[in-house]
Amino acid sequence: MKKIEISTSLTIYDSVEELPVDVQQLVKIAIESRKTAYAPYSNFNVGAALMLENGKIISGNNQENAAYPSGICAERVAIWKAASDYPDIKVNKLVITANSNLKMVDSPVSPCGACRQTLFEYESKQEQSIEVYFMGETGKIFKTDSLKDLLPVAFSKLLL
Ligand code: THU
Repeated sequence: MKKIEISTSLTIYDSVEELPVDVQQLVKIAIESRKTAYAPYSNFNVGAALMLENGKIISGNNQENAAYPSGICAERVAIWKAASDYPDIKVNKLVITANSNLKMVDSPVSPCGACRQTLFEYESKQEQSIEVYFMGETGKIFKTDSLKDLLPVAFSKLLL
């Protein structure tokens, strides 16, 4: 028997201005996208924007449903749009942002477990890491270099 330590790493930015210019552009588009979220139940609007390796930007936002579990997160709307329309083009970067109609979101909103698992699958499939930046409405921005940092010891189809 042995015990191992698994480490993960995060880069923390103090403001949008500190981000690379192409990521700042993704932030703008993610903010635009969260404006058309359909979130009448949570009042929590999430926008995601991802950049493909050919420079194309795909965005998505959360879409809720009166049958609550039928709703879907912004990240999965965006990645499934990309996977469905551009199945052979790799995803390089993803930005996630959120605001609430009820209070200020001033800390980074990190992707939920189901979104991490979904994004991990596409990262594995394309054999290239996806950078993930996540933020609130204001405050710091967190970045991970890979889904592996967000989902250590992930379930993988290789195990099946
Ligand atoms: N939500 C996302 O869109 N992405 C996440 O990673 C976390 C949660 C959405 C789902 C739901 O519509 C609302 O935020 C509140 O949970």
